[in-house]
Amino acid sequence: MPDRLPTLLPIRSAPLLACLLLCLGPGAASAESADLLAPETPLSQLLAALGAPASEHWVEPTPELVEQGRQFVQEGRATTSAGRRTRSLSPAFVCTDCHNLVREDPDLAQSDPEARLDYAVEHDLPLLPATTLWGLVNRSSWFNDDYVDKYGELVAPAHDSLGDAIRLCAAECSQGRLVADWEVEAMLAYFWTLEITVGDLGLGEAERAAVVLGLEGEAGRAEALDLLRGRFLAASPATAADPPADRSLGYGNAGDADRGGVIYERSCMHCHDRGRPGKLVPLREGKNDEARLFRQRTKPDNRSYFQVIRYGTRARGVPMVYMPFYPAERLSDAQVDDLSAWIRQRAGE
Ligand code: HEC
Ligand code: HEC
Repeated sequence: MPDRLPTLLPIRSAPLLACLLLCLGPGAASAESADLLAPETPLSQLLAALGAPASEHWVEPTPELVEQGRQFVQEGRATTSAGRRTRSLSPAFVCTDCHNLVREDPDLAQSDPEARLDYAVEHDLPLLPATTLWGLVNRSSWFNDDYVDKYGELVAPAHDSLGDAIRLCAAECSQGRLVADWEVEAMLAYFWTLEITVGDLGLGEAERAAVVLGLEGEAGRAEALDLLRGRFLAASPATAADPPADRSLGYGNAGDADRGGVIYERSCMHCHDRGRPGKLVPLREGKNDEARLFRQRTKPDNRSYFQVIRYGTRARGVPMVYMPFYPAERLSDAQVDDLSAWIRQRAGE
């Protein structure tokens, strides 16, 4: 039997199968393990089978809750089971003004703004100042790094609890109302449908074999868990940065105008072209064109795009809107210089 294997199977999977048979003995790689390693298996299910503790923010994703959660996140309000429309979460924003709902990084173990830009082009995605809500439920902390340092007590509960992170972001980032418990539940239920799956991890054969070992016996469990946890970020990093010291020079890179144009379209225009959020004045119109952006880059205040990119703006107007700052992981210094190169070119300078 073993000597026939190579002819029956693609060469690449032969060593794995041989190992499963030889290393684990009969009954190895049970049907159950094979199911757990199927591409569509939710990551949490595989981790649980390896003995990981159940998630504190688990909510059964029943169709009704999921649909209500989806409406809150994408449309800002939902229809209750009694058929009533809820109040809007926010008069100014919807979650998707600042967050994607799909995967946005080619390598889930890294937050690399250059790789994300290429991925956004390839998959036609916006490039936003806040992290994607896809894979949110698989993380174990939220509002990380400089959000904790900058906002302290305000974000402390949200750092450790996804429910509180949703409450905080709806009220503060979104300039909205308090969110009722059932509304948080609905959004959580929806976010569980945006979970990372086994296929998203892109495991190689040796890694799959190691996971099978963990599933089939106590001995390989810790290793399998470590391996899986090494394949995605359990926390989305966020490092606050400063505008360049000399705004007429930028950060000192020559800048790639073409890449800058992509950033302008996929990031800035996500809000400024549509006149979203709230009644935001579109950047591209009238006096607010690129020539003005270029001229005002050296101003010491919000007229400078360097300033608003790195520090954001304060909420103002009716409804209250503001621009969130871009952490270094969302727009690198080099990318801001790319943007400058493009704005300069458009301004005809
Ligand atoms: C105006 C922009 C904006 C809007 C609108 C917004 N958020 Fe956020 N959100 C942020 C920023 C900025 C952060 C900070 C951390 C990050 O994402 O990098 C954040 C963080 C979060 C986090 C923590 C993510 C993590 O892994 O650190 C959650 C959860 C969240 N938002 C949920 C929501 C939900 C749900 C909505 C809609 C009800 C919403 N947000 C609307 C800007 C926004
Ligand atoms: C999430 C939505 C959003 C994104 C993305 C965004 N902005 Fe803004 N921006 C705003 C809002 C809201 C304001 C505040 C308007 C106000 O205060 O009246 C603003 C203000 C500004 C201002 C100040 C205008 C003034 O004269 O006060 C500039 C300049 C600006 N943004 C440039 C940019 C650039 C460049 C990018 C891309 C790197 C960008 N914005 C991305 C929402 C956004």
